[in-house]
Amino acid sequence: MTARRVEQVIQGYATSDGAGVKLTRVLDPRMAAAIDPFLLFDEFGSAEASDYVAGFPPHPHRGFETVTYMLVGRMRHKDNKGNQGDLGPGGVQWMSAARGIVHEEMPQQASGLMRGFQLWVNLPGAMKMAEPWYDDIDTARIPTVALPGGGTLRVISGEHVIDGKVTKGPVRNRPSEPIYLDVDLPPNASFECEVPTGHTTFVHGVDGQVLVGPPDDEGRKAIDARQLAVMSREGKVVIATGAEPGRALVIAGKPFKEPIAHYGPFVMNTEAELRQAIDDFRNGRF
Ligand code: CO
Repeated sequence: MTARRVEQVIQGYATSDGAGVKLTRVLDPRMAAAIDPFLLFDEFGSAEASDYVAGFPPHPHRGFETVTYMLVGRMRHKDNKGNQGDLGPGGVQWMSAARGIVHEEMPQQASGLMRGFQLWVNLPGAMKMAEPWYDDIDTARIPTVALPGGGTLRVISGEHVIDGKVTKGPVRNRPSEPIYLDVDLPPNASFECEVPTGHTTFVHGVDGQVLVGPPDDEGRKAIDARQLAVMSREGKVVIATGAEPGRALVIAGKPFKEPIAHYGPFVMNTEAELRQAIDDFRNGRF
């Protein structure tokens, strides 16, 4: 069985979003064709309250899904459909904005460290105007398994098999058939997982350093925290550690191979659908 090779290492850039939340944008919609079905991947993390306290006041989304994974800190979500949820440490919110939602995401702390990730996952054209849906996944719903060679794995989406025992993540039946794993390894350990052929796959460094790709091969690269490895499209994902521990996210999804028209928080297939989205939002039809 082959192992996926690292095709590109991406270093995020500093930017801000919402009401001035400082973050590192690792993937953005300009790369959409190469990272299909993904559209954006942000890491936010700061111990300075002024970097995050203003949060993300009410804003719309249409045509895709947002996935927020909190590592440290607490955020409250509220939307115009009457949904409200609290996102705490280790928890995930998977929101399918589909035909349209207006929501806010506000920090529930005025000091201390806040750290997490937001991923945008596209929807196929046939589902862009479906009813919005979301799931607030408390940390206790995310299975955490001990790896045979040391370390732990959290399965947010997709499944992982150890000695015939299948662990499935709580996020099921999404059109992109997503895999979202959090792998935490001690020094000199390794981890591998199956990913369907053709899935767009990346590995994002969270802490320490991980070696990603086939051992003894130039397709293997060292990935530090906040660096992202874009993987080739066939074979297992293989991650190892050297002298230091390492933690990384493995994220994969099935490309839709559809045209993408993007403007701010709207992602559709055509310019006409984009104009409609802007018109619908401005006229209160979300
Ligand atoms: Co949002």
